Amino acid sequence: MFVVRALAIAVILLLLPAMSNCGEPPDFDAAPADRPNLEHKRKPGEFKRNKYGVIDPSPDVISLQHLPKDSYGFVDWAKAISDGLISPQESINGASPRLKPEDRERFDGDIVLKSKKAFMPDVLFPHAAHTEWLKCSTCHPKIFRKKAGATPVSMNGIWKGRFCGVCHDKVAFPTRNCFKCHSVKRESKR
Ligand code: HEC
Ligand code: HEC
Ligand code: HEC
Repeated sequence: MFVVRALAIAVILLLLPAMSNCGEPPDFDAAPADRPNLEHKRKPGEFKRNKYGVIDPSPDVISLQHLPKDSYGFVDWAKAISDGLISPQESINGASPRLKPEDRERFDGDIVLKSKKAFMPDVLFPHAAHTEWLKCSTCHPKIFRKKAGATPVSMNGIWKGRFCGVCHDKVAFPTRNCFKCHSVKRESKR
């Protein structure tokens, strides 16, 4: 009897240091900038493998510090995608959402929204950077008419959360970064 109890105590003492580790977050190193690990198009529930088919145990997260920044020090998400550092899934479970016919159209045109005030440069609206994340019907026709110059966009409206302000200042880069939108130098004065 005594032997059994002594053994049990010994086992518990041996396990204690291991058990005290439970509950602490795992101590991952940030993914190194030169090794973005998202080149793998992995299906949910499957292991990530390198090009030789070997399971790659590196974490799937990239610390924000390794993502490119814009002139204001915010993460430049558009560049993070175009540099191939991130590749967002179309949905949480990885399935392609069913799109309406009007959302299957392709359009990558840049649109210049002429500035109404001479002291501000014109605004360049890049479709490509947006359709990477959004479907057409997110913006058309509720937020913007599908015709350049047809929507009466104003800066005040944007600051009140309309037009570009539906997203910018909320989920996309903030409007205090004026020249990320007002990026087109005008050749002539009007
Ligand atoms: C998310 C994009 C975006 C950002 C950021 C942005 N603007 Fe605008 N702004 C627009 C658009 C679009 C228009 C409408 C077209 C035009 O008049 O240039 C506009 C219009 C304007 C106008 C013209 C007059 C008016 O009221 O419509 C002024 C002045 C202006 N913005 C100033 C600013 C200033 C100052 C900042 C930074 C504090 C800023 N904008 C940041 C998109 C933006
Ligand atoms: C983030 C918002 C947004 C999304 C998403 C978006 N657009 Fe647009 N689109 C605009 C804006 C802003 C304009 C200019 C409207 C204006 O000036 O009144 C525009 C204009 C257009 C125009 C008119 C171009 C011209 O020269 O007259 C077409 C065509 C168009 N979009 C097609 C699409 C298609 C197709 C998709 C999906 C692949 C799409 N857009 C997604 C914001 C968006
Ligand atoms: C429905 C949401 C939505 C609307 C409306 C919207 N944007 Fe954006 N925009 C985004 C998202 C999301 C991004 C990518 C994330 C980021 O850069 O913060 C983005 C990025 C951008 C970029 C950066 C592109 C690059 O290559 O760096 C510009 C410029 C921009 N938007 C301008 C505009 C202007 C101008 C308008 C209004 C005419 C507008 N956006 C309306 C969601 C929107």
